[in-house]
Amino acid sequence: MADSTPPWWKEANIYQIYPASFQDSNGDGIGDLPGILSRIDYIKDSGADAIWICPTYDSPQHDMGYDISDYESVYPPYGTVEDMEAIIAACHKRGMKVLLDLVINHTSNEHAWFKESRSSKDNPKRDWYFWRPPRYDSQGNRKPPNNWGAFSGGSAWEWDEGTQEYYLHLFCPEQPDLNWDNSETRKAIYQTSMHFWLQKGVDGFRIDTVNLYSKVPGLPDAEITNETSEYQWPRDVVCNGPRIHEFLSEMYNVFAQYGAIMTVGELGPDSDILSYVSASAKQLNMAIQFDLVNVGFAPGISTRYEVSPEDSWTLSKLASAVAAIQGSLANSDGWVTTYLENHDQARSISRWGSDLTEESRVQTAKLLAMLQATLSGTLLLYQGQEIGMVNAPKDWPIEEYKDILSVEFYKAIGARTGGDPKALACAFAALQSLARDHARIPMSWDGSRNAGFTQGKPWMRIHDNYALVNVQNQLSDEHSVRSFWKKILQVRKEHADVLVHGIYKAVQDEDLNVFIYEKHGSRRKAVVALNFSGAEQPCQVMHSSEAAKGTYMSTYGDVVEGRLRPYEGRLWIGPS
Ligand code: GLC
Ligand code: CA
Repeated sequence: MADSTPPWWKEANIYQIYPASFQDSNGDGIGDLPGILSRIDYIKDSGADAIWICPTYDSPQHDMGYDISDYESVYPPYGTVEDMEAIIAACHKRGMKVLLDLVINHTSNEHAWFKESRSSKDNPKRDWYFWRPPRYDSQGNRKPPNNWGAFSGGSAWEWDEGTQEYYLHLFCPEQPDLNWDNSETRKAIYQTSMHFWLQKGVDGFRIDTVNLYSKVPGLPDAEITNETSEYQWPRDVVCNGPRIHEFLSEMYNVFAQYGAIMTVGELGPDSDILSYVSASAKQLNMAIQFDLVNVGFAPGISTRYEVSPEDSWTLSKLASAVAAIQGSLANSDGWVTTYLENHDQARSISRWGSDLTEESRVQTAKLLAMLQATLSGTLLLYQGQEIGMVNAPKDWPIEEYKDILSVEFYKAIGARTGGDPKALACAFAALQSLARDHARIPMSWDGSRNAGFTQGKPWMRIHDNYALVNVQNQLSDEHSVRSFWKKILQVRKEHADVLVHGIYKAVQDEDLNVFIYEKHGSRRKAVVALNFSGAEQPCQVMHSSEAAKGTYMSTYGDVVEGRLRPYEGRLWIGPS
């Protein structure tokens, strides 16, 4: 697998920035581009080779910028196009790359294209979106054109009084889907969202919802998978649609005009991953797969928070998910990513580690860092992960949850159950462990007021633990989570043949407590043993006799023979 000169993005560590919550520079309580610029050295020092910045384009912010009203300008509270140019220049000066977020399945309903499209049935841009007349039931009630449900659960169709038709939105009503079947639309998308920024020197894109652009012609009803709802997430008729690979080839040809740029697509579950990421297919360089981060969710996109006890995570589910992703690399020319967090996921320590005590927070942060950093593919590190940020405290009320998905989900459960307190408590419990909000809590930089994030009133509440868990504390502490991340990212670089490029082999994934696997390079191998329990566990792999021949590393610093301490992770790399 290790090619002679791999493209830059294979061994790169990419640091993901959520602009609203990273660093505020002007006291309005909202993170911004000058704030990001002021932290580039910190990001580089963390071991990152590139940054991926979530959407900063102009937007009415119904979905935190994933609803774009103008691809060629920056959301004013974040700054200006010149500010972005300054970030690109600052990164390039330090040998770092910049990826932007490409959100092109839909625009905002305030995008000029949609305003035109909506203005009349015979507007030339009418066909740039999906407009359909209503259906009527036997009583003559107006109904949406089909049974498709949006990601938040309700109908995926919104009625437009002006022209007496519905338009399609797989996400919020403020995010109308673009009609990719129209070649003029596609050309316009490429021009405004890709060429415009590539010409400014961006090095690639994280591509949002990358398998949704081709809908099955005729927009047929979706299969009923959720009996409790009138509307169904239309997976089989919108994901991996008939023309998706044709569209991605076209995009590939746009990117190819700019040299060594990188693309990473957000690829929903149930996709044939190799058809998207195999190098010979010339579609995407790699994908953000969901196998691992979906461990602990209920099945289905709009039902993901409706968890029941059988959905709760187990180590063997986690291990199978790792094996599924890593396995897609074996004997192929494809490429994957290794990540545990992003802006759509709760914090990994709270999900699969333990945030119950300060000690377990630190231990499991390092354990999960060792897991992520020893898996093959391009590594994506999410802001705050490097200091072990955790979910919001349990005593935060529902009002602190700002994400549209959380708000809509909670409302829908209330509506469906007539406000049943038990059902609402259950829904809230799910949000407390799984909501996207947790990752969107502002970054804790130091112990000063508002964690050094802002001088003003933060748009979202600062984490209660900021005085303890913050960047400044950890920079000077060699045992901190941040120091461990920095170290393990160096180890990953030094041993890229096994850690970044190696072939994954499960050794033991049935054990309830310890997760053991190997990574095989052409001449060397790594063995990884991760104790996911808070108790000591026997461990027969990796003895000091072997250690003498290779590199040994423990999340505890030192190594003991024959056993793993609570939440200890151990890594050995040597000749195979
Ligand atoms: C992606 C984004 C998410 C957004 C959605 C709609 O999943 O990561 O934050 O809500 O697309 O654009
Ligand atoms: Ca600001």
